[in-house]
Amino acid sequence: MQATAIAHPNVALIKYWGKRDRDTNLPAVGSLSLTLSGLETRTTIWLDKDSTEDQLVLNGQPDSSATARARLCLDLLRERAGIEAGASVESTNNFPTAAGLASSASGFAALVKAGAAALGIDADADALAGVARIGSGSAPRSLYDGIVVLENRESDTATGSVHCATISAPDNWPLAVMVVITSSAAKEIGSTEGMELSRKTSPYYQAWLDTHQADLDAALGAVREQDFDALAELSERSCLKMHAVAMTSQTPLFYWSAATVACMQRVWELRRSGVPVFFTIDAGPQVKAVCLPEVATQVKAELARVQGVQDVIECGLGQGAWVES
Ligand code: DP6
Repeated sequence: MQATAIAHPNVALIKYWGKRDRDTNLPAVGSLSLTLSGLETRTTIWLDKDSTEDQLVLNGQPDSSATARARLCLDLLRERAGIEAGASVESTNNFPTAAGLASSASGFAALVKAGAAALGIDADADALAGVARIGSGSAPRSLYDGIVVLENRESDTATGSVHCATISAPDNWPLAVMVVITSSAAKEIGSTEGMELSRKTSPYYQAWLDTHQADLDAALGAVREQDFDALAELSERSCLKMHAVAMTSQTPLFYWSAATVACMQRVWELRRSGVPVFFTIDAGPQVKAVCLPEVATQVKAELARVQGVQDVIECGLGQGAWVES
């Protein structure tokens, strides 16, 4: 009745932004991501059959909104197990929370993994992806190793199947990811609220939906061919399109700082000079620079020198969430 699981965050190269349905948390688009080694969420769950309450403590603080979402996932797992029990959940991140570093993805991946293990039910990634998605649309991806696709199929339903899979294992095409911290403050408007605002108000939202699948298909081809330049162009394009949609929402969602833009420019300069590197940015001011391992040291040093950069964390491709034995 107790288990601990560990999950890495992931960073999307082809982004998820927008929900088909808010209540069921079905993403409106598919996505392609990298599961990152180096950063992790560690979650322990204790079940108590004498209780019906759930409580989630995140980095030492009770968190009511995360508790509400966690409860949705735990209810599904309890139903599958046929067990009624309240859950005490303790979760810690070894990186800044809610600052655009996909803490919700690793958080919900670790939660469902630990929850399933504590309840004694099938805890493999395919069995848990649909449950993780209820917690956070990007969370299923953190259940899988390496380079991961999360498809968007019309037939996907609220609690039904989720089509998520590793398309390239970590050692098949090793990539390095520099996570460039420009601020560790939590963002003002989180992804969930932000993407709803975009869906309702951005004049570019429909164009985002209409052009997204072609980007995803092309990026899948680039990974298959291990074509770094093609993946670089497609990833930056998806990132910039997502941010264009966010910026043109009402009110505008402007996640970048001056240091974010300076890092983007530095990455472009490096690529123009022949260094295989590209950037991506989620709903926050941090920049993730993806590069080939042989230039990792150079890219890290170059980005650490950019004005406003606080820290650069070097990551590689990691494994999907696992239960600690
Ligand atoms: C910009 O998965 O955090 O990081 O489903 O509402 O929990 P919810 O949103 P979330 O959104 C991630 C948005 C993104 C892009 C991505 O990871 O694909």
